[in-house]
Amino acid sequence: MSLPSLASLDPDKITPFVRDVVLPCIEFEDPCVAPGASAFRIAMRTSVIHRWGVFAEERIPARRKVIEYAGQWIDPWEAQRRWARPRAYLFRFNDDWIVDGAVGGNGSQYINHSCEPNIKVRRLGRHILYFSKRVIEAGEELTVDYEFSADSKRVDCYCGAPGCRGTINVKPKR
Ligand SMILES: C[S@@+](CC[C@H](N)C(=O)[O-])C[C@H]1O[C@@H](n2cnc3c(N)ncnc32)[C@H](O)[C@@H]1O
Ligand SMILES: [Zn+2]
Repeated sequence: MSLPSLASLDPDKITPFVRDVVLPCIEFEDPCVAPGASAFRIAMRTSVIHRWGVFAEERIPARRKVIEYAGQWIDPWEAQRRWARPRAYLFRFNDDWIVDGAVGGNGSQYINHSCEPNIKVRRLGRHILYFSKRVIEAGEELTVDYEFSADSKRVDCYCGAPGCRGTINVKPKR
């Protein structure tokens, strides 16, 4: 079945639920990294970890800003509503703010999780910056530790790292 183009939808007939929840989880075309989003050559490809992932196309030195996590800033109530999607691209900035990469994202929302990641997150002001933890060679998939809460639903991990903890969730604190 072919999807209608976004431009053909009548804005007056779109309910807030369809606009905010349904439409952002429909892939009208293959995802890509937005041009200019990174100072390095990185690209979207299919991943052995999960569906799509983001890959280095050139060597990235250690401790360099690779990309900013972009998207719409929403509150926890709105984030809860958007979890209804089959796929969510929600980055928890703090207790008050979540960034929805499905709306206005630049491709960084497709970076998969690894238990031994090559990217680390730095929060600078109202920016979520992804920095290289070490040298990343051309061809490597970019990965970050999602650190899902120990209290949230367990998600099995397929990162394949030698030290994989088996789940994207962090271990419960004792
Ligand atoms: C923000 S998406 C990442 C992009 C995703 N690969 C895609 O194409 O939509 C996050 C979801 O990807 C999946 N994922 C990412 N890393 C994973 C991993 N190491 N093991 C299993 N699933 C993973 C999980 O379903 C997770 O909730
Ligand atoms: Zn893992």
